[in-house]
Order: sequence, then structure tokens, then C-alpha cells
Amino acid sequence: MRPAPEVALDRSLLAEIDRILASAADRDGALTAVVKAIHDASSRHDWTGIYLVEGDTLVLHNYLGEPSPHTRIPIGRGICGAAVAERRTLVVPDVRADPRYLACSVKTRSEIVVPIAKLGYVFGEIDVDSHTADAFTESDRRTLEEVAGRLTGLF
Ligand code: SME
Repeated sequence: MRPAPEVALDRSLLAEIDRILASAADRDGALTAVVKAIHDASSRHDWTGIYLVEGDTLVLHNYLGEPSPHTRIPIGRGICGAAVAERRTLVVPDVRADPRYLACSVKTRSEIVVPIAKLGYVFGEIDVDSHTADAFTESDRRTLEEVAGRLTGLF
């Protein structure tokens, strides 16, 4: 049995996302506040960002954590590009074991990428990296998928 996460994402994050979406002045402001809310929701979140789809490329919109060299990622490349191409959440418990992984930081051990998608169209994605191996639980996945679902209303 896996150990309980140090801090699990929960309904309070969703409530905060709803508050942000109800009060943000515009989409850019909302996305910036959403990244901060996700980043601050768990001590295991060491890099949190949102990429938006522009043609055949993912473009980094905003993030918290160390600067990433991957500000533009072709769809289909990396974990980020694969999640969009496959239109599904990808959880990578050990990035060092996944040949698709594009390194953002040598400290990163696990990653989750959740598409922001509606009716088969992908607008962007939420990407969270952790310095902890296997940091993301099924509950985290469900919560972040609910966050992404709420964000589709911005597009
Ligand atoms: N690791 C990602 C690239 C983005 S950085 O983690 C911020 C990937 O493999 O697509």
C-alpha cells in the first residue's frame, strides 16, 4: 500500500478556483491566479504552470517554480505534448523512467499533465512537477481534472 500523501488536494482547492473564476478581471488574470492556487495547494508542487495551445504548439502562459527551458513545446513532444495529442491526463510517477520526458529541472521526479479540453478540443493544459517520486494520487488527478473542466469556461 502506498503511503498517504503529505498534503492531498481536496475540495477546498475547487472552492478557491470557483472564487477566482467568479472574480478575475480577465482570462490572463484568472489563469495566473489558478496556477498560484494549485501551486500553493500542496508542498509537493514544485513547479506549476499552464500551457495554451497555439496551432501545433503548446506555449507556456504562466508558471510558478524555477524557470523552464520549455516555453514552447510541439504537440506530440514530451509528456506535455503527449497529453494533448492523446487528449488525456498523463501521470508519470518516475520521470527518469519515461523516455518522453523533457527535463525542466534535474530535481523533478514525478509529473502530472491535465488537458483543458471540451468536446474533444484541447485549449491548453495544467502541468505540475514534483521533486517527490510518485507524488500524484488518483485523488489529485480527479481534483486537477475538475479544475481543468472549470477552466474550459474561459475559452
Ligand atoms: N516535463 C515536461 C516539460 C515541461 S517542464 O516540466 C516545465 C514534458 O516532458 O513535456
